[in-house]
Amino acid sequence: MTEATTAPSRGARGLTLTDLVKTYSARGREEFQAVKGIDLDVRPGELVALLGPSGCGKTTTLRMIAGLETVTSGSIRIGDTEVSQMPAAKRGIGVGFESYALYPPLDVRENLLYGLKARKVSGAEQMVDSITARLEMEDLLPLRPAGLSSGQKQRVALARALVRNPPVLLLDEPLSHLDASARNRVRRELKALQREFGYTTIVVTHDQVEALSLADRLAVMNQGVVQQFGTPDEVFDDPENLFVAEFVGEPKINVIAGAAGDGGAAVRIGDGGSFATSVRGSLGAEATVTVGLRPQDCALVADDGADGVRCRVTYFEHLLEYGLATVAVPGVADPVVVVTPAQDRFEPGDDAVVTAPPERVYLFDAETGGRLR
Ligand SMILES: Nc1ncnc2c1ncn2[C@@H]1O[C@H](COP(=O)(O)OP(=O)(O)OP(=O)(O)O)[C@@H](O)[C@H]1O
Ligand SMILES: [Mg+2]
Repeated sequence: MTEATTAPSRGARGLTLTDLVKTYSARGREEFQAVKGIDLDVRPGELVALLGPSGCGKTTTLRMIAGLETVTSGSIRIGDTEVSQMPAAKRGIGVGFESYALYPPLDVRENLLYGLKARKVSGAEQMVDSITARLEMEDLLPLRPAGLSSGQKQRVALARALVRNPPVLLLDEPLSHLDASARNRVRRELKALQREFGYTTIVVTHDQVEALSLADRLAVMNQGVVQQFGTPDEVFDDPENLFVAEFVGEPKINVIAGAAGDGGAAVRIGDGGSFATSVRGSLGAEATVTVGLRPQDCALVADDGADGVRCRVTYFEHLLEYGLATVAVPGVADPVVVVTPAQDRFEPGDDAVVTAPPERVYLFDAETGGRLR
């Protein structure tokens, strides 16, 4: 069975990475494994965001897929075709990398048309007009690359990747140099174009808002490993480990030491009391665990014997749509942050109780950070 018979008319193809490894070796320096056996299955027409901190291997992964970096081991398939040893130009991949050079003597319009004309693509002019209008960059068309700001260059790089109408599109931090309002507009257009044209797309970012708003699925990476791959909701609601829980979510998840009781069905927080959990495991009595509590999942209620953890408010911010209460739990060093409803008001010194639904009280192994379920 060929992809062409099952895929939409343009022949959208999936992208599959299997146990992909990149080891850099520089003379006189120790070998460094930047990508440590990644598996990723991007469906035809899907947009996957690769999200992770600086140095975790995002660009290296993208460069291997594009053919700009050799693969140490593992496989890269586009549709049914193994491409890991194929020259970059034969892979049919559109690349929107910032460093991708533009031809200095040509203006932006000629730069965008350059590859299309060489391949005698019909409708090239219309394609360039339509995409540059959508990205609100018509005013850049007569300019030479040397006269462009970094944000403008970035938009040209994005447009150049898009006009090629590639079956697979790779974008590395495509919006990082744009100002906030241009970033929001271009992000929406990028998503709309990706939907219309059906490019199978990987977007690298370390901005979680960008990742959450663009992605069908999110691959959260750290230290050369994909920590979790799922929809934004899956990653937010059901984090695999402490790294993912801390990396995704704003305000950041509260991380507190706790003592498991009842095999993990309850967890005691300092001298403040306990949260019930939905953990079904069999933790030893009084096992030390790391507790993750999202500020959005907690509630702060009057201290009138409610089930939860006693605390005292140390700081309260009223932010119009909601409030942010910082509280101290007796016997716990770390403060706990709770999102409160807009109409509620607290004062420093108020005694209160933090409550949380049992299924939203996450427990992690205190040593490995792995999720305890
Ligand atoms: N050519 C190279 N030689 C040796 N080490 C490299 C090389 N390129 C990257 N590295 C190292 O590999 C690791 C991953 O780098 P990579 O550029 O993939 O990170 P990244 O996730 O894209 O980070 P950022 O968000 O800062 O762009 C880093 O520790 C980096 O120093
Ligand atoms: Mg990078």
